[in-house]
Amino acid sequence: MKKLLCIFTVFFAVPKSSQEKPEVTMHPEFKQVYSGDTVLLKCSGAGSVEWLLNGTRIPSSGHLYIPAISTNESGSYSCKRAGGESEPKIITVLEGLPIATLSIKSGQPVIAKGDSVVMELHVHSGLEGWYCKVYKGGRVRRINMLKNLMTRSNSYVQFQPKALNDTENPALYWCEHKTDNERSNPISIRITDLMVMLESFPDPAIEGKELKLKCYVWGDPVIRKTPVELRTKSPLKLRNSRSKVPYLRQSSP
Ligand SMILES: *[C@@H]1O[C@H](CO)[C@@H](O)[C@H](O)[C@H]1NC(C)=O
Ligand SMILES: *[C@@H]1O[C@H](CO)[C@@H](O)[C@H](O)[C@H]1NC(C)=O
Ligand SMILES: *[C@@H]1O[C@H](CO)[C@@H](O)[C@H](O)[C@H]1NC(C)=O
Repeated sequence: MKKLLCIFTVFFAVPKSSQEKPEVTMHPEFKQVYSGDTVLLKCSGAGSVEWLLNGTRIPSSGHLYIPAISTNESGSYSCKRAGGESEPKIITVLEGLPIATLSIKSGQPVIAKGDSVVMELHVHSGLEGWYCKVYKGGRVRRINMLKNLMTRSNSYVQFQPKALNDTENPALYWCEHKTDNERSNPISIRITDLMVMLESFPDPAIEGKELKLKCYVWGDPVIRKTPVELRTKSPLKLRNSRSKVPYLRQSSP
């Protein structure tokens, strides 16, 4: 009797994970995006990423962080990663303002690690039904507010969010009404270890209008004597601690 030796070769079709289509997600996921909103776009997957707006490459590495989006930045956003291109994410930026205002009452939008800020929510028609949220470290969390302050007769409330750590950078805060589909503008807070930091005020930059930038220098007071240079395409020398940059044109950060 002959013995038959059968060898089965099984081929597994293993999809290479690197060829999976990346996906663009927007944080916070607002139904309506208004001019001046802070928008954070993330591309799923790992490795180097390329961002496209209407098919044209836009400079960014990692996440696409738009501190104050303008109506001109409406369009279809997609990302390319490891040879795959995502489905487009259409963002239509509307003129106008959300009915509630969230602002930084004390502190700065860029803070040192361990620091925190005080925020204020203002809703003209009263705070009843409003609550605030934060997107940080890849998750949305609700911020606990004192219930007895969130009433119809109260139109302002201040709160101090928790200090942030490295994995929660940037953190985006906003407030919503529980039924009315209404929200506030978002505020982004970033932490830094840098000793020099340049920051713009959270208002959107408008072509032809003055834009305030603040440059902070920490540490040894001697550093302050070093001339500070503001680089745009060519460096601008600032002579005083407060200088005006005469002309602003729209460009990418
Ligand atoms: C937006 O685009 C329009 C038309 O292309 C232009 O007139 C306007 O100045 C732009 N606004 C900003 C803020 O760049
Ligand atoms: C992208 O395309 C849309 C639709 O054609 C257009 O309305 C929008 O202005 C474009 N955005 C940019 C930044 O070119
Ligand atoms: C950062 O904070 C989150 C909670 O918000 C915590 O889960 C995480 O462990 C912290 N990470 C570090 C490095 O401290």
